[in-house]
Amino acid sequence: MRSVLIAGNWKMNLTEKETVKFLENFNPEKSNIELLLCPPYIDIPIMRKVLKNSFVKWGAQNVYSEKFGAFTGEISAHMLSELGCSYVICGHSERRNIFNESNELILKKVNSVISERMIPILCVGENLEDKESGNSLNKIKEQIKSVFEKIQQETDIIPVIAYEPVWAIGTGKSATAEYAEETAKNIREYIEKLKGKEYSELVRILYGGSVNISNIVEFLKQKDIDGVLIGGASLDPKKLNEIYSKVVIAQGVK
Ligand code: PGA
Repeated sequence: MRSVLIAGNWKMNLTEKETVKFLENFNPEKSNIELLLCPPYIDIPIMRKVLKNSFVKWGAQNVYSEKFGAFTGEISAHMLSELGCSYVICGHSERRNIFNESNELILKKVNSVISERMIPILCVGENLEDKESGNSLNKIKEQIKSVFEKIQQETDIIPVIAYEPVWAIGTGKSATAEYAEETAKNIREYIEKLKGKEYSELVRILYGGSVNISNIVEFLKQKDIDGVLIGGASLDPKKLNEIYSKVVIAQGVK
């Protein structure tokens, strides 16, 4: 049985002070659902302090692939693990598109996260052009293959995959639950081809792209969707409380 993960990606939002304020107003009750917040790097230390005794986990939105050295402006997995991060998002479409991250670099990032015993959240997804030209699945398979074929072999850490259609991110136009499920199912079948049935059954697949209080339960009802990656709607503590409570109440919907 794969556990449900609700992850918030704050992107480049909320200062340290705003993080403290957010956490003062964020008071979810523990359940068997995993809750994760990924703030900007500089907010991680304060988040760690405030959430020390909470069930809520924290993680990072990005990482560099090397452990230390002359890489001005970068942060390593080694540093993030010392700050108690549980997860690290790798290959978000904004990293791929704005910062030109390649599949090769993303593989290195994923492996560095695994080396530090954190869980990578590998983001994959088609853009509008891929969708319109019928290339969505090829694009996603390429993104998955480049990582899962060469991932560190001797490890018990299984990356999470976040399926995020680029056209649905921050647009308010989420994919339909059926569309997201169809892709998630294809992703799981492809992982099975690459890594075998047992492994593919353990991989958690999240949906991301304009998730909100009105559509979240529909996504989580789907057989192959094990959680969500939420951007905009994770920035308001009250909204996130409501989203989380709604999911807790709706548990067992599958
Ligand atoms: P959104 O972002 O929920 O604001 O669409 C999702 C993401 O980019 O992870």
